[in-house]
Amino acid sequence: MSYETLLVETRGTVTLVTLNRPDALNALNSQVLADLVAAFAAFDADPSQGCAVLTGSAKAFAAGADIKEMQAMDFAGMYGGDHFAGYLRFTATRKPVIAAVSGFALGGGCELAMMCDIIIAADNAKFGQPEIKLGVAPGMGGTQRLTRAVGKAKAMELCLTGRLMDAAEAERSGLVARVVPADNLLAEAIKAAETIAGMAPIAVKAVKEMVNSAYETTLTQGIQFERRLFAGLFGTADQTEGMAAFVEKRPANWTGR
Ligand code: CAA
Repeated sequence: MSYETLLVETRGTVTLVTLNRPDALNALNSQVLADLVAAFAAFDADPSQGCAVLTGSAKAFAAGADIKEMQAMDFAGMYGGDHFAGYLRFTATRKPVIAAVSGFALGGGCELAMMCDIIIAADNAKFGQPEIKLGVAPGMGGTQRLTRAVGKAKAMELCLTGRLMDAAEAERSGLVARVVPADNLLAEAIKAAETIAGMAPIAVKAVKEMVNSAYETTLTQGIQFERRLFAGLFGTADQTEGMAAFVEKRPANWTGR
């Protein structure tokens, strides 16, 4: 399957998706959204694939929603057409997605990275929500996910001033899991993805749901959800296999059952 705005390749058990609008610094227009939704639905449905890496170019992961596409839009088109609602389908991906961010991740680009499950940043990465400078505001979850990731003080400052945050500050404030030298970004992200893809597939999906539930529920409800799902994993063949493999001092052979 080929896409107008993405390059998609599989590397063993890992799907690598590269945003490919270099002339627009990977600005996220409607075609990118349609392509992302289709590519990640295909990834999720492919049992040979265990984890995905989403990346951009060396200069830009993505410089935001496409300003030229939005310029002529009015309230009716944006609200009535629910312009960014498709991203809910991207975030419905059940297998993990790692954002490998080099260069600019601004506005919708920062928001897209935050929709992924793990962000690994190159040391040249820059994150920000500069929509305020365009007379608008973040519209793909920035005020919500950034606040949950870095706290109110820093999120408020970034969203109200448009200041960009470098990779070191992003790591310090909890937005990114790890910063790596730019030259190693893809190798490091793929290595992490391979590690995840090598785990029991049902447990991987369960962990993603459990961690995400921390954003949606109270502590008591989240812990109960975790405990129920944890118990449910004891109904899988991979629990039997994983624990037997540990006791027998051998690698586990997962079946995804
Ligand atoms: N939308 C559309 N086109 C964009 C774009 C965007 N978000 N960002 C960059 N481009 C285009 C530029 O217009 C330019 O195209 P032309 O050559 O045809 O003029 C090309 O990409 C290269 O960009 P620059 O010449 O500006 O590159 P630079 O190195 O001088 O600057 C930059 C890089 C600082 C990232 C600058 O491009 C910039 O500020 N971009 C806009 C960032 C922004 O405001 N993002 C938020 C968008 S709104 C949003 O995302 C809403 C939301 O939350 C959903």
